[in-house]
Amino acid sequence: MTKVEEALHQAYTGEAKAALRLKLYAEIAEKEGLPQIAKLFSVIAFSEEIHGKRALRLLRAAKSTEENLKASFESEQTVAEVAYGNFVKIAEAEGDRAASIHFSQSRDVEEIHAKLYKEAMNHLLEERETIYYVCTLCGYVSDGILPEECPICGAKKELFVNFG
Ligand SMILES: [Fe+2]
Ligand SMILES: [Fe+2]
Repeated sequence: MTKVEEALHQAYTGEAKAALRLKLYAEIAEKEGLPQIAKLFSVIAFSEEIHGKRALRLLRAAKSTEENLKASFESEQTVAEVAYGNFVKIAEAEGDRAASIHFSQSRDVEEIHAKLYKEAMNHLLEERETIYYVCTLCGYVSDGILPEECPICGAKKELFVNFG
């Protein structure tokens, strides 16, 4: 990696983290009854995302959809097996139950992400229309079915958002 590529990579990860943090801040401001502040956080999060994507484009980190699906599938597998697998062990060793539940549920959801990518890779050119339902508690993604209860965390169906 050249120095510029390293800088671009740092810019990308920094902006990605800031955008996520700001989205959480916006949710908190919304709950505190401060919609204008929530809007400000949301707007700046959106702006940081633009910076992050611009850095990624300069890094040529995104390719064709076929390659992007393959890369995403591989990254989900690694995250599930290696990263979250280790995080669960660390949390269990320290007796941190909340973190351990978070890590193990996330690991299970990442495996489902990998499966969804795999299916998309196999049917790349079929324009199958579906509605995805996402659990807002654990991130579980259901393809086409709104479950009564989240199979990963047990959340009720009211806690799902849909992407139709
Ligand atoms: Fe994932
Ligand atoms: Fe869930």
